[in-house]
Order: sequence, then structure tokens, then C-alpha cells
Amino acid sequence: MNKLIVSLLLTLGISGVAHAAGGSASIVADAKAGQAKAAVCGACHGPDGNSMAPNFPKLAGQGERYLNKQLHDIKSGKRTVLEMTGLLNNLSDQDLADISAYFASQKGSVGAADPKLVARGEALFRGGNLEKGLPACTGCHAPDGKGNAPAGFPHLGGQHAQYITKQLTDFRKEEGGRANDGDAMTMRTIARKLSDEDIAAVASYIQGLH
Ligand code: HEC
Ligand code: HEC
Repeated sequence: MNKLIVSLLLTLGISGVAHAAGGSASIVADAKAGQAKAAVCGACHGPDGNSMAPNFPKLAGQGERYLNKQLHDIKSGKRTVLEMTGLLNNLSDQDLADISAYFASQKGSVGAADPKLVARGEALFRGGNLEKGLPACTGCHAPDGKGNAPAGFPHLGGQHAQYITKQLTDFRKEEGGRANDGDAMTMRTIARKLSDEDIAAVASYIQGLH
């Protein structure tokens, strides 16, 4: 880990993120049961979680803890996903845990990066930007984009660039954006240091990363 990340982790008190995941500790997730419960999700996210449409995120191979947290956040309205309005209302904590286990167990597909954007995207992803106080993404999302499943840091590698762009733009908004990254505001703080060009480059790089 580079020094910037260590200091960011300390100042933001990132250990708090580890306690923020939804669900109860007593639940034992069942991926097989989750497959049946996820049938309705396949229309948008793909039956195995590899969605075809670039605005629908791939869920295959995503960390189980991260998925479970997002599902609880979407269900409670802490994170707004209009396309999923009402869809999770009748699902229990057990259902959400099972579905998370199912998609986490699938293999994620990878796309391609735009050759014109790769250099800038890679430099940002791997090195951050010292002048702007921007940490490298690798510190939490790993050099291969795999994330850190136990910590709840999402897998990014191979994700649709269009979806990544929307998330970073939403995190960057002061109001009406995505604000479910905890009291530490980890991703909001980072996204607010990114320009439109930075976001386009790093999102394209992530799409081809594996
Ligand atoms: C009508 C289309 C649609 C359906 C059906 C749907 N989703 Fe989604 N889902 C979306 C969209 C669009 C987003 C991304 C919203 C955004 O841009 O923030 C999303 C986001 C998510 C995320 C967050 C992913 C991430 O990387 O943060 C999860 C998890 C998720 N959906 C799970 C599910 C599950 C489980 C089901 C079935 C119970 C489901 N979705 C059904 C459209 C859909
Ligand atoms: C200090 C740790 C940390 C660093 C550094 C970091 N992230 Fe994150 N990132 C997170 C966490 C934690 C989340 C999940 C927030 C939540 O629970 O909703 C996240 C979420 C995301 C998401 C949303 C993923 C999804 O599926 O919706 C994107 C995109 C993202 N980060 C991109 C980046 C980029 C690009 C960089 C580098 C410029 C970066 N992150 C640096 C911790 C970090």
C-alpha cells in the first residue's frame, strides 16, 4: 500500500466500512437457493450475472459482502435504483444473502478498454494523483481490479465502462447522487477529485481490466 492510501484509511477511519454491511451474522447463505430467487434479476443483469446492457451492472463474481450491502441499501432506499423500485420489498434478509452468494459464485466476463484512453486510465488507477491528493484505486480495489471481498471493497475489473462512469459521476454529486459509501464518504471524497476526462479514462481502463 502506498503512503497516500494508508493516510487516507487512517483519516477516513475506513475500518468503519467493515461494520456497515447489511444482513445478520446468523444467516447462512445458500447460493443454490439464491439461483432460483434471482430468476427475476436475470432480465436486466443476465441469468448468470453477466449483463449485456452497459447501463446494467454485471453482478457475476462480485464480492458477496458488497452485493449484500447494496441489496440492503437499495431495498431501504439508501441507494436509489429506479429500475429496481419495489422489486426487493418482498425479499427477506435470507433471500438477499442467498442471491448475493449466487452471483458471487459466478464467473465475471471482461470487456475491452479504448486504446486511446488506456494510458491515462491505467496511470490513475495504479498511481492516483499525488498533486490532487488522490489515492491509487489499487489500494482498495486491487491491482487486477478484484477488490477485497471480505472488506466489502467491490470487484471492478471487467465492469461496463458506462456503469462505472455513472457511479463515479453520482458519487461526485453534492446532492441527489450516490451517498451510500458510509460516514467516511470514501468514494464521494475520491470522486470529487476526478474530472470528466479522468472518469472516462479510468472507466474504460476498468472495463478491460482482469
Ligand atoms: C429492470 C432492470 C433491473 C432488474 C429487473 C434488476 N435490476 Fe439490479 N440494477 C439495475 C440497474 C439499472 C442498476 C444500476 C443503477 C445505477 O446506475 O446506480 C442495478 C444495480 C444493482 C446492484 C448494484 C450493483 C453494484 O455493482 O453496485 C445490485 C446488487 C443489483 N442491481 C441486484 C439486483 C437483483 C438481486 C435483482 C433481482 C432481485 C435485480 N437487481 C433486478 C437494473 C435492474
Ligand atoms: C480507501 C478505499 C478505496 C479507494 C482508494 C478507492 N475506492 Fe472505490 N470503493 C471503495 C468502497 C468501500 C466502495 C463501496 C462503497 C459502498 O459500499 O457503496 C467503492 C465503490 C466504488 C465504485 C462503485 C462500484 C459499483 O459496483 O457500483 C467504483 C466505480 C469505484 N469505487 C471506483 C474507484 C476508483 C476509480 C478509484 C480510484 C480513483 C477508487 N474507487 C478508489 C473503496 C475505495
